[in-house]
Amino acid sequence: MVLILDRNDVQKVLTMKEAITVVEEGFRELAEGRVQMPPRQLMTEPERNGWIAVMPAYIKKTKALATKVVTVFTENPKINLPTTIATILLNDPETGRPLAIMDAGYLTAIRTGAVGGVAAKHLARSEAHTAGIFGAGFQARAQLEALCEVRAIDEVYVYDVMSEASEKYAEDMSPKLGINVTSVEKPERAVKGCGIIVTASTSTKPVFHGSWLEPGTHITGIGSHMASTRELDTEAVRRSKVIVDLREAAEKEYGEILIPVSEGSLTLDHIYGELGEIITGRKQGRKDDQEITLFKSGGLAIQDTAAAHLAYSKALNAGIGTEIKLQ
Ligand SMILES: NC(=O)c1ccc[n+]([C@@H]2O[C@H](COP(=O)([O-])OP(=O)(O)OC[C@H]3O[C@@H](n4cnc5c(N)ncnc54)[C@H](O)[C@@H]3O)[C@@H](O)[C@H]2O)c1
Repeated sequence: MVLILDRNDVQKVLTMKEAITVVEEGFRELAEGRVQMPPRQLMTEPERNGWIAVMPAYIKKTKALATKVVTVFTENPKINLPTTIATILLNDPETGRPLAIMDAGYLTAIRTGAVGGVAAKHLARSEAHTAGIFGAGFQARAQLEALCEVRAIDEVYVYDVMSEASEKYAEDMSPKLGINVTSVEKPERAVKGCGIIVTASTSTKPVFHGSWLEPGTHITGIGSHMASTRELDTEAVRRSKVIVDLREAAEKEYGEILIPVSEGSLTLDHIYGELGEIITGRKQGRKDDQEITLFKSGGLAIQDTAAAHLAYSKALNAGIGTEIKLQ
């Protein structure tokens, strides 16, 4: 039998706190070389501004084997569909048998929020309590939720080119998290005085000037994911200690790195390390409270696999979902 979990089912079982734990564990396993994760396969649909990825991973320690198919169609909100849509197939690594098929739209936001949480836990100043958020969409909600799990965030400034989106975000997130979330009209306000900045927009161009960054800031960039697009400018990257989720992916897909490299302003050596190296202590994270740190994530299949395995185990225990016979 195969367990079908729709978005509602996944929402019932997947908590941010637990997602942060399993995603961190996934990165540790990756750094220890105990994970199989072939490079994701990419396709595009230029006429619809669409991006399609197939992302498999196997985390041996937890016997988690899954493949996600994810699409990002940035014009979708105009026809009332989410920008990011995803589905996961979870298999039994001992027999190959399919165990579960689940919606992964919400799961993608949670696992992406979770990696932002893990990065802030290891890289942000411990006393950082003010956050600036760029892009007030679906991902940005999970990003803030995760930040609140790892730091005592009490003040948030959110900027979006669509002011209705940032106003709605502030209206929803303030009571949800019990903190002050303010929609701001100028991007500067979501940079100045913010100990942590998260960029989670669909922008293809830098969302603020790197010269505005104050010493000691931690930035997490999760939005852009193509070699030709970026949310952070050369100055922001140049001034930062850069940590990526996977060096191989960064050198192929992340415009934040590849655009300055193609302009000759930086070299690939500017990438300091991978998140797993920081988690395992192989590399030092933040050096002092003046350093600017940047975690750039394009998203890895281990995050999906870890979160899907967690959702499946919890759903089985709680008797949630619908079983169907496939074979
Ligand atoms: N790194 C990862 O693992 C990962 C995972 C999922 C999604 N993503 C990416 O995250 C991005 C956001 O996805 P989403 O599902 O939240 O989309 P969304 O459409 O729900 O929200 C994006 C928001 O960004 C805003 N925006 C666009 N340009 C901006 C700018 N210059 N400044 C401020 N705000 C701006 C839009 O108005 C919109 O409100 C997408 O690019 C997606 O590909 C990354």
